[in-house]
Amino acid sequence: MNILVTGGAGYIGSHTVVELTKAGHVPIILDDFRNSRESVLDGLETILGSRPKTYVGDCTDADFVETVFLAEQIDGVIHFAALKAVGESIEKPLLYYRNNIGSLVTVLDATLRHGVKAFVFSSSATVYGEPDSLPIKETDPRKPATSPYGNTKQIGEDILRDTTLASAGSLRSIALRYFNPIGAHESGTIGELPLGIPNNLVPYLTQTAAGLRERLTIFGDDYETADGTCIRDYIHVVDLARAHIAALDHLFSSETDQPAYDVYNVGTGHGTSVAELVETFERETGVKVPHAIGPRRHGDISSCYANADKIRRTLGWSAEIPLSQALTDSWRWQQNITA
Ligand code: NAD
Ligand code: WQD
Repeated sequence: MNILVTGGAGYIGSHTVVELTKAGHVPIILDDFRNSRESVLDGLETILGSRPKTYVGDCTDADFVETVFLAEQIDGVIHFAALKAVGESIEKPLLYYRNNIGSLVTVLDATLRHGVKAFVFSSSATVYGEPDSLPIKETDPRKPATSPYGNTKQIGEDILRDTTLASAGSLRSIALRYFNPIGAHESGTIGELPLGIPNNLVPYLTQTAAGLRERLTIFGDDYETADGTCIRDYIHVVDLARAHIAALDHLFSSETDQPAYDVYNVGTGHGTSVAELVETFERETGVKVPHAIGPRRHGDISSCYANADKIRRTLGWSAEIPLSQALTDSWRWQQNITA
């Protein structure tokens, strides 16, 4: 199948391009490199042996998107293209609404008009907010979003559901709610490329281990968890990439009695505290990470991890790569980009 991968030069998109190719699909990247670098295409060429076909342009530009759909025989779409910095979205809400909602509407419109049958959307565990119970199930309520970014994921899910149901069977779609993606391809040639000071734990940790940052601050040790630090469900980006292949396979092969639109958690089902993650990194890499306890970060929730039964049962996917490997893969990637 020819799969259009919007945001395919980004962190999760680039790993998904690799897994799509390994699964026998042909990925076609659409990205304007607003949060990635063209050098990711070199990394992909090293892994795949050839450069994936790439269209450089903005997904909110309907004329540009139309030229791609006219030029290619597209069978399915994976829509990653979005901005993702929670704090920036609070400062610049219209930037986030325009880009994240505008790109979804534009790409979905072309998908429908060109009769493309399968669409996978990047949603996020952020839609659950502070959960009432753990592990989090897909049927648990979505809480009012605490940032414009989070709101774009809730609105995005709703747009996709409504559009899919209105298409009367011509489109089938899945929203994947990612928990916390970490890690990098084992070759060390592609990985996460945070621009500026990282907000997320693992890139901050690996930059500190590499000596680029003085010290990692652990945001709070007075949460109601076993060691007082926050708990998250860290999922290896290659496992996450494979969940997209499972979603597409399901959309292409589903019986007609399956729901046309569905949502799935993509997590390991296991919670890891910040302190445990730092300890695991130090043990697995042998590198000490200077760190100190600081105050809580505004907006952080205490614990968040997935019930991943639905995706295992229905799509046959479950996470396979352990946290230890995710952290050594992140470290290999960090060393490569620091060198
Ligand atoms: P990323 O920033 O590395 O990748 C996104 C890519 O989309 C970038 O290459 C960027 O240049 C491109 N892009 C953005 N807007 C575009 C536009 N209008 N036109 C063309 N290209 C555009 O981010 P990522 O971590 O790979 O995230 C991918 C998706 O997964 C996003 O939708 C994000 O919200 C979602 N998500 C990410 C996480 C996470 O922690 N990384 C968690 C949950 C959900
Ligand atoms: C993880 C844990 C921090 C940095 C974010 C988005 C979410 C989703 C994934 C897109 C928390 C702690 C962090 C540091 C720390 N993205 N931490 N020191 O906040 O769970 O989720 O990324 O959809 O929407 O909010 O991820 O990596 O920022 O934090 O102690 O320097 O690490 O408090 O407990 P988070 P994170």
